[in-house]
Amino acid sequence: MWIIGHRGSAGTHPENTLASVGAALAAGADWIEVDVYAAAGELLVIHDDTLDRTTDGRGALTDKSLEALRALDAGGGERIPLLAEVMDLIDARAGLNIEIKNALALDPVLALVAARLASRPAWHGRVLLSSFMPDVTAALGARARDGWLLGVLYLDDARDPVAIAAGVQAYSLHPPLRQVDATLVGAAHAAGLRVFAYTVNEPAAVERCLALGIDGIYTDHPGRAIAIRAAYANGSAVAE
Ligand code: G3P
Ligand code: MG
Repeated sequence: MWIIGHRGSAGTHPENTLASVGAALAAGADWIEVDVYAAAGELLVIHDDTLDRTTDGRGALTDKSLEALRALDAGGGERIPLLAEVMDLIDARAGLNIEIKNALALDPVLALVAARLASRPAWHGRVLLSSFMPDVTAALGARARDGWLLGVLYLDDARDPVAIAAGVQAYSLHPPLRQVDATLVGAAHAAGLRVFAYTVNEPAAVERCLALGIDGIYTDHPGRAIAIRAAYANGSAVAE
């Protein structure tokens, strides 16, 4: 089961910052997930379309200049990173799941990924693109996938996500944890899909995912989840 650092290592560092991504790498995360918006002519790593929750700025992300956005404190003196900076830092030492948060980001993300795949072959098969927006997922599904993977990410109200994922030749299905059970895992695996559940933080939930044979979990605490996975492999339960 892959341990996917959610927003880097959001439980221990300011989410979606280079410090958070670095912490996930240092913890040994197999993959790292970040959220990406196109704004101010760049690809910015941030979860919300407003600045208030995660930075010392206020208002809409898309209202600001790049200079103004980059001057903000995203926690502990960290800046809002560019996607390119995150890729530089990871350098294919872990996989990278780029979660596309606005449709404007689709083409620039594909262009950046294509350039990185060309210049750094180690990224091949280690970039996974996903989005909650069905239109973006469908558009990604129509693109040639030369080295990157497609995941189908969804909320509780999605209808027949396994069929949607099979329809776009996805690599993986990304359900919310509360939707995950043996039936879903069985159906996904029968369709040739990996299952990556979000967001799995409690030790007991990590163990449940291990027992279900899930292929990966997004977690805010990648270091802790790696320890639980190791203990599980050794036959000793960690969770109460
Ligand atoms: O991509 C998995 C997970 O990150 C989706 O939820 O809201 O944390 O981006 P959210
Ligand atoms: Mg996300």
